[in-house]
Amino acid sequence: MHLIELKHVTYTYPLANEPALKDINCTLEKGKFYGVIGENAGGKTTFCNLLRGLIPHFYHGELEGDVLVEGEDIRTMDVDMLSTKMGYIFQNPFTQISGVRKTVFEEIALGLENLGVPKENMIKRVIEIAKLLKIEHLLNNDPNRLSGGQRQRVAFASITAMDMDIFVIDEPTSQLDPDGTEEIFEIIHMLKEQGKTIILVEHKVDLLAEYADEIIVMGEGKILSQGPVREVLSDRSMMEKGAMIPQAALLAYVLEEEGITLPYIPVTREECIKLLKERRGA
Ligand SMILES: Nc1ncnc2c1ncn2[C@@H]1O[C@H](COP(=O)(O)OP(=O)(O)OP(=O)(O)O)[C@@H](O)[C@H]1O
Ligand SMILES: [Mg+2]
Repeated sequence: MHLIELKHVTYTYPLANEPALKDINCTLEKGKFYGVIGENAGGKTTFCNLLRGLIPHFYHGELEGDVLVEGEDIRTMDVDMLSTKMGYIFQNPFTQISGVRKTVFEEIALGLENLGVPKENMIKRVIEIAKLLKIEHLLNNDPNRLSGGQRQRVAFASITAMDMDIFVIDEPTSQLDPDGTEEIFEIIHMLKEQGKTIILVEHKVDLLAEYADEIIVMGEGKILSQGPVREVLSDRSMMEKGAMIPQAALLAYVLEEEGITLPYIPVTREECIKLLKERRGA
């Protein structure tokens, strides 16, 4: 059985003239890391809202087709049940903070409390996660007075602490610098090692090339392409579809135009260096 299966899914937000998702067909398997890329307003966040059950349970509008999570129709699934399986980190960190808690510690603990985790375990978990995400020094701060990047980390911590099976993460690094971004990718990698399934919306294709298993390209509410990282991210036609390809692949295409052909199109920096060294050696 597929972990998630979408069959002919078309979704229109209330009062919208046009569907935000159009005839989406896609299957997601347990334990894989999916990178979702594509143009602005292409439907990436809506896709996340759908996977997370916010559509149709929170956003009404019109949903056609089938959304199955572990074979079960998402329409008949209990939202509370769903939220113990699936964590969602929103695109805008300012909407994620509950605003009802006085400290970052309490904010991170909120989800665990809702899950009924015993107090002692809870304290241990919050501290562990805070260390991992390098926000220990913020634990006593007011969550409403954090910078965008700090909020993003706190939001990430709250979800990671809950130990869900599936993580739906919408642009978690948009407010982070390159170091912060790399750290988030390392944490996501660690979650994957623990067997979690990850659906990550992210524009940083160089990092996706390194870490993700599969790429889903969205545009105009449709899935334009889905496949293994190498296959999708080395496809130059993606750029006409509003998606970027990695620096390594771009370089390879430039070299190709100059008559320097590599055995295949690299997608990561390491691959690119390796191919160029081999070529020099030959
Ligand atoms: N709550 C909403 N109500 C009505 N229309 C919406 C709503 N949210 C998004 N849309 C519309 O649905 C379409 C897809 O938007 P969505 O936010 O899913 O795209 P996205 O790929 O996440 O874009 P971005 O890269 O800007 O985050 C857009 O046309 C958008 O205007
Ligand atoms: Mg979005």
